[in-house]
Amino acid sequence: MMPSSPDRAVTHPVKLENDLMLRALRGESVERVPVWMMRQAGRTLPEYREVRERAGGFKDLLFHPEWAAEVTVQPVDAYGVDAAILFSDILVVPEAMGLSYELVEKVGPRFGRTIRSASDLASLHPIDPHKDLDYVMSAIEHILGALHGRVPLIGFAGAPWTIFCYMVEGKGSKDWTLARRMLWEEPALADALLGQIAAATTAYLRAQIEAGVHVVQLFDSWAGSLSHSLYVTRILPHLHSILEGLGGRVPVTVFAKGGGHFLQDLMTLPCTALGLDWQTDRSMARSLAESAPGGPKVLQGNLDPSVLYAQPGIIRAETHRMLDEFGMTRTIANLGHGLYPDIPADHGRAFVEAVKSYPTNTRETTTTA
Ligand code: CP3
Repeated sequence: MMPSSPDRAVTHPVKLENDLMLRALRGESVERVPVWMMRQAGRTLPEYREVRERAGGFKDLLFHPEWAAEVTVQPVDAYGVDAAILFSDILVVPEAMGLSYELVEKVGPRFGRTIRSASDLASLHPIDPHKDLDYVMSAIEHILGALHGRVPLIGFAGAPWTIFCYMVEGKGSKDWTLARRMLWEEPALADALLGQIAAATTAYLRAQIEAGVHVVQLFDSWAGSLSHSLYVTRILPHLHSILEGLGGRVPVTVFAKGGGHFLQDLMTLPCTALGLDWQTDRSMARSLAESAPGGPKVLQGNLDPSVLYAQPGIIRAETHRMLDEFGMTRTIANLGHGLYPDIPADHGRAFVEAVKSYPTNTRETTTTA
């Protein structure tokens, strides 16, 4: 299957002023590399903290489309990025399936219930995104109105393995022992749960696409907890099923953090782009991407977010080195994971500016670093 067949592509009513990211995703040559940052909306920005306070809490932000729209647009103004990403969370999907969660300050997500048995599984239900996640659809409508075509909007969801981890464990974990144990101890139950998550995710992303997002990204944040063979045999089929269900109507990026040891297998997915973490070797990834079975893939990434604690001259030099290694075609500049909450906003801007000044400013940069 081709990643995007033009006859089924979605048409958007408002023409984009800045379509750099979409052109890069089509493999066109671009005047400069597009840039955005994972977790660009959030605590690094004082204006985010202000709206969050006004809203009462993180979940209140999610449930109110006007506030979600406000914080989605903030990084476009504050950092000058080439794309906005929907302000929401990957955990809204398990919640829609029947497991509610709270975000506990300085602790992280906490689910009231977990899925460990067949009767737990039976308590889940298929989702109707227009009913169970209508607040997200309404946020997308508000965001598109607020952006008015300035930059494309990225929709997203968690990938099945990462959502499975939270549903089984009920909270964050270092190496997801309970989730990995279930894959071996209760393979049929695990597969049924992964299948239900994949079905819900497909329905959810289809609804986001109908609502008007231009690109979608699947976050497999805990991919790195699995071995190569387990990921390929037990997880990849569910990613295939989601991608097939989306039918190539918009470009899709798969970000499997820690998945460098099965990058070659990720290249077989019918997606447009792969997101890379900072441990992944750029030249190796590029050569795999150029010879991917379904045609060349776009690469997104992968500056170590901790580089953003360095002085701006160093941020610029490291960013330019990254772009030297990736090359300008089929590249979307990003970090190798989300922005850390205490990274100064000025340093985020230095990263974005470094991408925008490449390659014209490379000589000046190497001398100031
Ligand atoms: O700017 C953006 O990237 C868009 C919004 C976004 C959020 N979460 C908002 C958020 C996105 C894309 C996510 C994805 C997400 N959520 C992932 C995958 C990406 C990754 O980081 O690996 C995961 C694993 C989650 C689950 C989650 N949500 C955790 C573990 C936490 C607590 C830890 C933390 O970073 O605070 C959240 C909360 C969360 N999601 C916040 C934001 C802005 C912080 C909320 C706050 O304190 O205001």
